[in-house]
Amino acid sequence: MKIVGSFFIAVCLCTQSFAQVIKHDKNLLRTIDKNFIDAAAQYKFLAKNLPPDKFPKTYFPTTGKYEFSNSGWWCSGFYPGTLLYLYQQTKDTALYNEAMRILVPLKKEQFNKRTHDLGFMMYCSFGNANMIRPSEEYKEILLNSARSLSTRFNPNVGCIKSWDGKPGEFIVIIDNMMNLKLLFWATQVTGDSSFYKIAVSHANTTMKNHFRADNSSYHVLNYDSATGAVQQKKTAQGYANESAWARGQAWGLYGYTETYRETKDKKYLEQANKIASFILSNPNLPADKIPYWDFNAPDIPNALRDASAAAVMASAFLELSDYVDKQLAKKYFKTAETILKNLSTEKYKAATGANGGFILQHGVGHMPNKTEVDVPLTYGDYYFVEAMERYKNYIIVNVN
Ligand code: GLY
Repeated sequence: MKIVGSFFIAVCLCTQSFAQVIKHDKNLLRTIDKNFIDAAAQYKFLAKNLPPDKFPKTYFPTTGKYEFSNSGWWCSGFYPGTLLYLYQQTKDTALYNEAMRILVPLKKEQFNKRTHDLGFMMYCSFGNANMIRPSEEYKEILLNSARSLSTRFNPNVGCIKSWDGKPGEFIVIIDNMMNLKLLFWATQVTGDSSFYKIAVSHANTTMKNHFRADNSSYHVLNYDSATGAVQQKKTAQGYANESAWARGQAWGLYGYTETYRETKDKKYLEQANKIASFILSNPNLPADKIPYWDFNAPDIPNALRDASAAAVMASAFLELSDYVDKQLAKKYFKTAETILKNLSTEKYKAATGANGGFILQHGVGHMPNKTEVDVPLTYGDYYFVEAMERYKNYIIVNVN
């Protein structure tokens, strides 16, 4: 069962208690319905500008130039995944057909053992396709992807390798928490617990080593591949080794919420709540809840915001709100609502026909590299659309 599908079922199974506690914003529901229509128009525009077999990466509004990628780039699954979410909402078959077209060149990545990003690449795409129209072919592709991802697990470290470093190095980044869902799914459909065990080991080792006393996380850990000892804690995409890179905090929040959903082990729920507490009590989180690209960026309040981190957080907070007591639930739900409202304004949501067809503006990909800075990002769009779908489902289940 796909993320939103299983989340939706989980919500259905819950008591409908929050309906009395959390008053939702009716205007936001109307805005979201309009956003889906606008987003569908945007993605059709984007589709027209794609070279054959290329995947959208970003667009530079100042020069009007696109950047595309091949299927092996970590973001290749977001474009088909977003199209499929939008198809679910609009029933516009042009979106479904475009997703089917782009899944063909993506398929080969099921055998890619050089990346840890197979969860992003294959589950956000083929997982969504399988949720809409389950098929043996999708199942096989997803299982092969899980097998490929599993080859990167090292029992000495207890983690899946993120990046191939120098000999003896074993690099794990917090983002890797997002790839575990593929492994949980593989155990559910095959009954083979080895995938589950790898995912749990990775989540446990990351929980032990990646977090600071204040519950923020490092971006990059370098383990000794033979002993599993931590050799370095640092950043790659954040401001500094000791800073809290915003999207990293978002990946952690989402990843531990998902790991709790898949295992029902309360320690992961506690971890997600701790990350949430770091984010929500941080004096550098702006009132509109769209984080600066790094919580410790030196030029706050003039630092750039990262709309993609906000979108990931909104989606995670909506799910997390269903697993906690009423007071926290309200806090998380209202945070997600605030994020969605602000991302829906013209400050972040592009006008139809602008932004190269991407939905959101103002994401920050890799500030230290000076790449993808203040631009649209495919993952920003994907998690924005997912969060809006979650918001709608939440209201449908709890209020109607
Ligand atoms: N490394 C994936 C990201 O930019 O979040």
